[in-house]
Amino acid sequence: MRDIIEQKSMNNKRLTREEILYLVTNLKNLEIREWIYKTADSVRKKYMTDTVFLRGIIEFSNICSKSCLYCGINSRIKNVERYRMEKEEILETCFQIKKNGQTTVVLQSGEDPYYTKEKMGEIIKAIKEQTELAVTLSVGERDEETYLYWKNCGMDRYLLRFETSNREIFKKLHPDGDFDNRINCLKVLKKIGVQTGSGFMIGLPGADDNDLVNDINQCRELDLDMIGVGPFIAHPETELKEEFIKHEIDYITGVIAILRLTNPDSHIPATTAFDAVLEYQGRQLALKRGANIFMPNSTPQKYRKSYQLYPGKPCVDESGDDCASCVVGRITSIGRTIGKGPGHSMKRG
Ligand code: 5AD
Ligand code: FES
Repeated sequence: MRDIIEQKSMNNKRLTREEILYLVTNLKNLEIREWIYKTADSVRKKYMTDTVFLRGIIEFSNICSKSCLYCGINSRIKNVERYRMEKEEILETCFQIKKNGQTTVVLQSGEDPYYTKEKMGEIIKAIKEQTELAVTLSVGERDEETYLYWKNCGMDRYLLRFETSNREIFKKLHPDGDFDNRINCLKVLKKIGVQTGSGFMIGLPGADDNDLVNDINQCRELDLDMIGVGPFIAHPETELKEEFIKHEIDYITGVIAILRLTNPDSHIPATTAFDAVLEYQGRQLALKRGANIFMPNSTPQKYRKSYQLYPGKPCVDESGDDCASCVVGRITSIGRTIGKGPGHSMKRG
């Protein structure tokens, strides 16, 4: 089984459901797990090289019209100071990102209708004109016309996680969401030529190994340019506060490794939530086990405490305003180099 998987992954051939199930169920077997890490690291090196691309993220509004049960900024939560950044402040932050030598900005927010199609379009255009950064948006579900409009304004990429491939769990967690619409958004984005990222949370309440296999399979089926996953972490102000799960870093980085084996040429970020599980080490471990992207927090410091989707989010209390210099050390200390250029999709370019 291992030989077949290794051969297929090294040649970017699709793994079967049985092969993915073998990987998932053996994540608790120490010997096989070490093999999974090692093979994923080789596949990463072959397809993505030793380069780590940086994507500076600005969390520009924590106002959200939705009430996803897991999320620490959902509309029902009272105990959070709400904020919005205006175009000028977003631009200022983009100048800083560029000054730090980064080449991509990710604009993320709650589903905030204040940023209309036109308003967001103006922001994208201004960033493209004044900084030439690659622009990624992550602002939730919108219609095709809006996505197309933003693309024409210069939007390069879009991130929208499907969160879980289990429809029942999806429904429970998203009282005002619709699974089919979420998947349709991803298909529309791909159709209009936007580099598309998606992913899921590991260990959601009610999810089992079978769901994890389906989640991993879903990523490959969507043929994603980027795959972002992270552990579910119970937020004390949400309805899921009792659902505390102690994540093992070796298990959740194992999921990163399996994603690399199943998607050799997709960008895979070492997401922030890995640091919430193992402070200042989690993201390096993810990079060593298949990931090739780091998303330093570029949100102005004063807002960071108000954008805690889950507890234990790192880089919230530092006095410095950005993670830019810290990140360089974290990446070079594990023998990797920082990517130059935009680091577009390896699939479509
Ligand atoms: N734990 C882990 N991840 C979370 N997200 C939101 N809330 C949580 C939580 N409690 C993730 C979702 C979302 C992304 C921006 O953050 O997957 O898509
Ligand atoms: Fe944010 Fe180190 S990555 S302070």
